[in-house]
Amino acid sequence: MNGERYAQITGWGMYVPEKVLTNHELARVVDTSDEWIVSHTGIRERRIVANERESTVTLAVRAARAALRVADLAATDLDLVIVATATPEYIFPSTASLLQDALGATRAGAFDISAGCTGFIYALSLAGDVVRSGSANHVLVVGAETLSRITDWTDRNTCVLFGDGAGAVVVSACKQRCGLLASVLGSDGSGGELLMIPAGGSRQPASYETVSNGGHYIKMNGREVYRFATTMMPRAAQEVVRKAGWQLADLALIIPHQANVRIIEAAARRLNLPQEKFFINLDRYGNTSAASVPIALCEAIQQGRVKAGDRLVLVAFGAGLTWGAVALEWGIPMPIKPQPWLRRWLASLRFGWATMRSAWLRAARRIYNWLLGPERRDHWHDRLRQRVRGEEKQPSQPPEPPSGGTSAP
Ligand code: ACO
Repeated sequence: MNGERYAQITGWGMYVPEKVLTNHELARVVDTSDEWIVSHTGIRERRIVANERESTVTLAVRAARAALRVADLAATDLDLVIVATATPEYIFPSTASLLQDALGATRAGAFDISAGCTGFIYALSLAGDVVRSGSANHVLVVGAETLSRITDWTDRNTCVLFGDGAGAVVVSACKQRCGLLASVLGSDGSGGELLMIPAGGSRQPASYETVSNGGHYIKMNGREVYRFATTMMPRAAQEVVRKAGWQLADLALIIPHQANVRIIEAAARRLNLPQEKFFINLDRYGNTSAASVPIALCEAIQQGRVKAGDRLVLVAFGAGLTWGAVALEWGIPMPIKPQPWLRRWLASLRFGWATMRSAWLRAARRIYNWLLGPERRDHWHDRLRQRVRGEEKQPSQPPEPPSGGTSAP
């Protein structure tokens, strides 16, 4: 590894859907109350996608474009796109590949990370390693979720907790010692069943039964997850601080996973740190899983709570069970200068071009398959051969364009 190469966050962006769902609105559909939700979780409202056009990718695209604008990079500068999500667009292709295409990141590899709410921390840690090793210069890391799509809106134990949103950062190589300096990642799969979606995978493929039993919704043992979170979150924070060679008192700000204000208060008590050192915005967004830490980071920056030289810890826990923390020294002078209008305009032009390119590539593939797909290609080859050899015309019918369905083997 090159000792002079470091990895720092140079761009950040977030996006949350416009639709606000308040506790009072929820109390009209399930047996709960604003008072219970606020006193047990600290959550007052959350954002949820309001129509079918919004999905994990559309939220991720908005957050990623904002991050690229701040980093003043074109999508073609990216070497890698990593998306952390528990609500991928599909099982495959990866959400990261769809995002890569939507952004026009034509030089980038892309893949998803599944580590529940810890996913963004896992992805950020990996991005730091990839950049420091010299394998990449610019990595886009996104946490994006549409948890409202896997929430059982009749289950008061879970539906009051979650929200939708996306946050993104660009991790770039730098020479001065700053940025992502240490990380801690952990997992205990023996607790997997405490927080899971039981059906829809290879263990229990989606079927009429799994859907009617609600097996495709989040199932959670809240008390056990709470116990795990209050132990592991402070432990991970402490460990990463030690690994970075810092003291807890050196920290300017801790950006924790936004699951429950009581979990954050318990972590503050265990670490013997004042609660003001913890950034909290879960009252407005609820738990947005892998998106919660990057959204909180963006808002902390917007509120002027991050300055060059500040030592920060980002820490999360989640399904798996997993936990993780990253120690990072902020390397960018704040506040950043606003981009001149010409560069903003150029960036918008590039994003528009990427959208057109993606649409054209999809259309071209369809046209090719229709005109020159395997069956039609044979047909045209036969016709051509007959012409060249001067063979007598056979009465041949062009085959039907291939239909979408498959026949049983
Ligand atoms: N409204 C009203 N009452 C409720 C509600 C609700 N929304 N939800 C539960 N209750 C009731 C329960 O039924 C129970 O009633 P009972 O005593 O008659 O049985 C009572 O409130 C207390 O329930 P508890 O589960 O003990 O409530 P608790 O104080 O533990 O809070 C909570 C529950 C908020 C879920 C808490 O345990 C928690 O935050 N756990 C961690 C969850 C978490 O962080 N999950 C995300 C993980 S990250 C990821 O990867 C997605």
